[in-house]
Amino acid sequence: MHMHKYEKIWLIFGGITLIVFLSVIGVSAFAMGHHPPSDMTTIDPEKVKETAPFDDPGLKKIGDNEYEAVMVAQAFMFGEPLEVPKGATVHFKVTSADVVHGFSIPGTNVNMMVTPGHINTITHTFDEAGEFLIICNEYCGVGHQAMSGRIEVN
Ligand code: CUA
Repeated sequence: MHMHKYEKIWLIFGGITLIVFLSVIGVSAFAMGHHPPSDMTTIDPEKVKETAPFDDPGLKKIGDNEYEAVMVAQAFMFGEPLEVPKGATVHFKVTSADVVHGFSIPGTNVNMMVTPGHINTITHTFDEAGEFLIICNEYCGVGHQAMSGRIEVN
């Protein structure tokens, strides 16, 4: 079959456009499915409870009004409520024992994804006293709406 030169060019152009389009979609789908957390430290999600520091979760004082909060997010909780003094800087170290969860503290800029297999970190200084909620903002199952934690700042 003989094709006109321009038809051929347009066909090739169309083909290339389609390939580029599909690769962009494929690459972004891949990137979304493998969203790299801010901290790339990895952990075996099957062994969270045997792996330090998650074998002993909770609040640890690491400096002058500076704390490390080690937390395991799992369906459908964040662990024990935390209590810190006003002005405390808290370094959150969070992993998931099951699926992807959200970790957001309304009224602050704390908002991250908690991905199984990774140690996700975020730091916040609580300059004001009050009660703060940790909420899960990634759909994680039937108990998602009820998944929350609490931080008391005194
Ligand atoms: Cu955990 Cu939604």
